Amino acid sequence: MSPVRLEKRGALALIIIDNPPVNALSQPVREGLWHAIVEADEDAAVEAIVLHGAGRNFIAGADIREMDQPHREPYLYVLLSRLEACRKPVIAALHGHTLGGGFETALASHYRCATPDVQIGLPEVKLGLLPGAGGVVRLPRLIGAKGALDLITSGEPVAFERACALGLIDRALGEGDVVEQALSYAQELIASGASPRRVSDLPFPDADAANDAFFAAYRKGLSRSARRLEAVERIIQAMQAAATLPFDSALVRSRELFEECRKSSQSAALRHLFFAERGSREGSGAAARKVQRVAVLGAGTMGSGIATSCVTSGLEVTLVDLEPKALEAGVARLQSSLDSAVKKGRLAPAAASEARARVRVSTDLAAVAGSQLVIEAVYENLAIKQDVFRKLDAVCDPGTVLATNTSTLDVERIASVTRRPQDVLGMHFFSPANVMRLVEIVRARATAPETLATALAVARRLGKIGVVVGNCFGFVGNRMLYAYGRENQLMMLEGAAPERIDRVLEEWGMAMGPNAVGDLAGLDVGYRVRREQHNAPRDPRYYRVSDVLAELGRYGQKTGRGFYLYTATGERQPDPQLPELIRAEAQRLNVRQREISDTEILERCLYALVNEGARILEEGIAASPADIDVIWVNGYGFPRTRGGPMFYADTVGLPKVLEAIHKYEAEQGAQYWTPAPLLQELATRGASFASWQAERERQRTSA
Ligand code: 3HC
Repeated sequence: MSPVRLEKRGALALIIIDNPPVNALSQPVREGLWHAIVEADEDAAVEAIVLHGAGRNFIAGADIREMDQPHREPYLYVLLSRLEACRKPVIAALHGHTLGGGFETALASHYRCATPDVQIGLPEVKLGLLPGAGGVVRLPRLIGAKGALDLITSGEPVAFERACALGLIDRALGEGDVVEQALSYAQELIASGASPRRVSDLPFPDADAANDAFFAAYRKGLSRSARRLEAVERIIQAMQAAATLPFDSALVRSRELFEECRKSSQSAALRHLFFAERGSREGSGAAARKVQRVAVLGAGTMGSGIATSCVTSGLEVTLVDLEPKALEAGVARLQSSLDSAVKKGRLAPAAASEARARVRVSTDLAAVAGSQLVIEAVYENLAIKQDVFRKLDAVCDPGTVLATNTSTLDVERIASVTRRPQDVLGMHFFSPANVMRLVEIVRARATAPETLATALAVARRLGKIGVVVGNCFGFVGNRMLYAYGRENQLMMLEGAAPERIDRVLEEWGMAMGPNAVGDLAGLDVGYRVRREQHNAPRDPRYYRVSDVLAELGRYGQKTGRGFYLYTATGERQPDPQLPELIRAEAQRLNVRQREISDTEILERCLYALVNEGARILEEGIAASPADIDVIWVNGYGFPRTRGGPMFYADTVGLPKVLEAIHKYEAEQGAQYWTPAPLLQELATRGASFASWQAERERQRTSA
């Protein structure tokens, strides 16, 4: 059955797109639309056509799943030109998400009406694409080149009021049924003798002002991250074409540029992440327990950040810290996060007051009673955490989910001190917890499926991406970080300056180099964790540079010096004394210093990640390579446009990765560079992590 229906309502033709869950414009939808549009346009009894998307939204865009396949007609931009050419008024009835190709469909319609729940936008850039079905050519004709560029290069949607103010909506509808209201609007248009009104007939506004100087200035004003996106440059080129060429030629040019984007590795990476981020939050199918009341134990940076995230998402929070001063400081931090969210326009003042009112505080652990979820965020020490969990076991109701925010400790050993290990898991948040989107949800042996489902549902409620991982030192993210950081540390001993390593990795796309990150997190933190690490390699070079700095009290930003020196305004500068300090330590450890190339810096850091990731997959600590990618992109500043470490390895080609690993094995020794058996096997048979995962899924579904 076609996902598109044509219903006659008197003189009106109602075209309904019904392609759950989001009415994506897949090939059957485009084909169905083509037939419905032609039939309605040619039917002499039809005086106007209303386009409606069934379900919760109008149309969320082109079907992203089709973008890796050969394109099948009708092309969307051709279909929309046919829609716009209709000889009777076409009215788009907008509600919910009206995005990408969906908004382009609305722009090709003659009149647009919308209910207040509408969200309108062109988010293609987030997939490394540009609007390829006329959006770049039509939108500026309605709102000008600058407004259109801002909307398209940011990819951010606009809500109802803003859409009305921009002139994107001709008729603002009320809260009620969108179809009935749109049909009445269409009747009104017929009664008033309204005719088709085509955006393509409008001139490009201020064509003189949209000259080379305007576009040069626009390019100059782009942020560093926008400049890194190849799609942004192509959007600007498409807009330049729209400003200078006749409508049809500009449309064809935008289509060519869209195709270039679609074939780019950046877009492939971003599309991979689109599905990976959605796939990772899938649970075991078990039902989640209801959570409205959360207790957070420990009001330090992590605890107060987690509490902030919970209250801004509508949960009630009891924040507990046995130290009154720490509790006070935690509440002050929470308040200041709320204030800053209001200042940045991310939170309405009333919502901030309501969030603050949802916080209770206590210095007594017994106050957690009655909570449905407890998140422990006390000092990172096994004995302390076990003591807390013993007490929680005594005071919490049966069925309360007990989560530890440990980043490295053994969740099994924490769960084992309770009489309810089935209710215990890890919820590893990332700092600052009210900002970072990732939560590693750590499954211990006895953790029940409902407990996992509950943690995943809470992560989603907090607007975060929860990824289920297995229990081992550092879980997925930090375990890989240790391998990445290890190579960074060894290369410093071997003569690469910290700022050079940071620069090479930042130019490659990492949000921050490892040494700048170390200074930000505090070098004392890692130092303390390593003292507790039972499985650290017996190697005097292991994290030695960090340890030397920590032993000198150079903890990073908080002490004004670490790998860098920090100015009063927080700017980082290389420390001229550091090379000598590192050289002396290298000499003491008999490490020969030498020239290290940029390629070696990249390969040793990135392939160490990939090799550890492959071991993590072998051991079943991560469920899929895509989960590892989601973790590294959302928790560790890995560039989205590279898709995550495992996706990146696939794009390099596993044989090439393996060859480099063998080279470092020969040069550096087998201790750190023995290839993971999985990587070796896949590279040898010409497979990739993605094809390995696809094979496993096929086997699972056929079993
Ligand atoms: N194509 C294919 N599948 C899509 C899709 C799309 N455009 N949009 C959403 N889906 C799928 C999701 O993968 C998910 O599938 P799953 O249930 O199997 O995991 C399901 O629809 C529901 O999506 P979400 O879980 O994301 O639902 P939410 O309610 O959280 O969010 C949304 C809804 C805001 C519409 C969000 O899905 C979204 O942002 N979608 C992408 C929108 C987009 O980027 N559109 C532009 C596409 S490119 C384009 O139009 C090119 C054109 O210019 C030619």
